[in-house]
Amino acid sequence: MSNIVQLHDKRFKPLIPSTEIHAAVKRLGEKINADYNDKNIVFVIVLKGSMMFAADLIREIAVPCRLEFLKAESYGSGTHSSGAVKINALTSMNLSGKDVIILEDIVDTGLTLKKILEHLAELAPASVTIATLLLKPDVCKGTVKTEYVGFEISPLFVVGYGLDYDEIGRNLPDIYVLTEEE
Ligand code: PRP
Repeated sequence: MSNIVQLHDKRFKPLIPSTEIHAAVKRLGEKINADYNDKNIVFVIVLKGSMMFAADLIREIAVPCRLEFLKAESYGSGTHSSGAVKINALTSMNLSGKDVIILEDIVDTGLTLKKILEHLAELAPASVTIATLLLKPDVCKGTVKTEYVGFEISPLFVVGYGLDYDEIGRNLPDIYVLTEEE
């Protein structure tokens, strides 16, 4: 794992190496397989941030599954959540009577997921659960119930493995944190 990474005006240092990420994703996949062993799953993948997590997680899934995509935006170009959430369904989202798992890269304030849950509830799914790679429990304070969590982290700004700082850094295989934050 390389050391300091410069993205735009900020410097980031390693937080979670890819080996640990992949072990966590495997563990989540095994848990989902056990919990949904007699079901079909519709994964609702929240772009852009969750694309890496989703791509790795679904390869661990052994039960039949479909993929749907939506786009949520909450951060703008800064390092903190703006609170304003825009949601656009990108695929058909025929979720009526389906068992849905939402895939997120990070739950920060939980406002994005709250809005997504409201949106999906109108589509009458049989069930909806949430799988997130990262959770900031001190920030979201139980706003939403997250059934599958890879890592709980402090209120830090992180990038890599799909997460960006002003649209760059998503390609980094490891997760990094702002140098001045830890
Ligand atoms: C990030 C992340 C979550 C959301 C979490 O998305 O992917 O969807 O913020 O923040 P919250 O819990 O405070 O609502 P972002 O808006 O940065 O879009 P992106 O995934 O396209 O980078």
